Amino acid sequence: MTLHSVLGNSEQNSESSVDVENCADMNWDELGFSPVPTDFMYVMKCAKGDEFSQGSLVPYGKIEFSPFATILNYGQGIFEGLKAYRTEDGRILLFRPEENARRMKIGADRLCMPSPSVDQFVTAVKQTAVANKRWVPPLGKGSLYIRPLLMGTGASLDVAPSPEYTLLIYCCPVTNYHKGSLNLKVESKFYRAISGTGGTGGIKSVTNYAPVYAATTAAKADGFSDVLFLDSATGKNIEEVAACNVFVVKGNSICTPETNGAILPGITRKSIIDIALDLGYQVMERAISVEEMLDADEVFCTGTAVVVNSVSSVTYKETRVEFKTGPETLSQKLRKTLVGIQTGCIEDTRGWTIRID
Ligand code: COI
Repeated sequence: MTLHSVLGNSEQNSESSVDVENCADMNWDELGFSPVPTDFMYVMKCAKGDEFSQGSLVPYGKIEFSPFATILNYGQGIFEGLKAYRTEDGRILLFRPEENARRMKIGADRLCMPSPSVDQFVTAVKQTAVANKRWVPPLGKGSLYIRPLLMGTGASLDVAPSPEYTLLIYCCPVTNYHKGSLNLKVESKFYRAISGTGGTGGIKSVTNYAPVYAATTAAKADGFSDVLFLDSATGKNIEEVAACNVFVVKGNSICTPETNGAILPGITRKSIIDIALDLGYQVMERAISVEEMLDADEVFCTGTAVVVNSVSSVTYKETRVEFKTGPETLSQKLRKTLVGIQTGCIEDTRGWTIRID
C-alpha cells in the first residue's frame, strides 16, 4: 500500500510516496508527542563499582524497583533522546546515536553513576529500534523517539550514590513537539539552571525538567507556547527554552548561547551549527542579551524533540516583538536540510546516520 502525501511543517516538507506496509496499524495522521506503548524495551543493570554488561530486550511494560531507589528519592538519573526515521524506500536510520552515548557518559560522571560504553549504548539503542521497527512512522508522518534512561535503582536512604543502576531504553512514535511556530515568554522569576560550571544545566539530569513546570504552566495559561529562560547570574542573557536550545539570526550571522555549563549541549544544536557553516553563514557561540535577541531578524529553536522550529514572537515584560516565519526563513532552510539528511532524502556526507534495518 502506498500513501501519497503533501506535508506541511512536519518532518518532511515535500511531496512523497511512502510505503506504509511495514508500519503498525494506527492513524499516523493523529500522532502527537504523547505516550504510545510499543512492543519492547531494553534493560541493562549494573552494581555500584561494576561495569554494565548483558542487557536484553523485554516486553514493554511497567518496571519495578525499591521505594528507596535513589532515582525516586534524590533524582539520581539522566536521560537521552534520539530518533529513528523511515526513509522513502523503507530503510530505517538512526541519527548520531554515539553523540547521545558520549553525552550520557558526561552526565553519568557528574551524578556519580557508571555508564554504558559508547558501543554498548549504540548497540542497545539499535536493538530497541529494530525490535520496535513497526512503530517507526511512515516518511513524513514523524519519527520513533528513543528515550534511554540511566538511573540509580538500588536502595539508599543516605544521600549517596545508589548500590545499583539500570539503563532502560523505551521508545515512542512522535511527531512535532510544538504545534506551529513558537510564541515565547521570557521568564523573569524562575531560572532553569545555575549559571556557571557548578550546576547540572549542561547535562540531561532528570532534575532539570520539573523545575520549569511552574513557569511553563503559567505561560501556557496566558496563551504562550513555551518559556525562554535567562541566566541566573545576571538575569540579562538568554539561555534555553524549557526543552530546546535557541538561536538568533541577524543578517548573515547566527548566534546561540555558548555551552558554559548551564546550557544543554544539544546534538541538533551542534548539527545545525555545522549545516549553517557549510551553507556559508557565520555562526557564533556567545552570550546574547535579551535586547540583542529582540533586535534579531529571526529566532529559532532546536532539539531532538523540537527539530528546528521558528519563533514567531517573544514577549519580555511588557514588550512583544514579532519575527519572520514561514518557508523563506533560514530556520526552515536549516530544518529542511537536517530532516533531509535524517530521512535519507539528502546525501549524508558526514556519516551522521546509521542504517539499522
Ligand atoms: C529532547 O529533545 O530529546 C528532549 O529531551 C526534550 C524533551 C524534554 C521533550
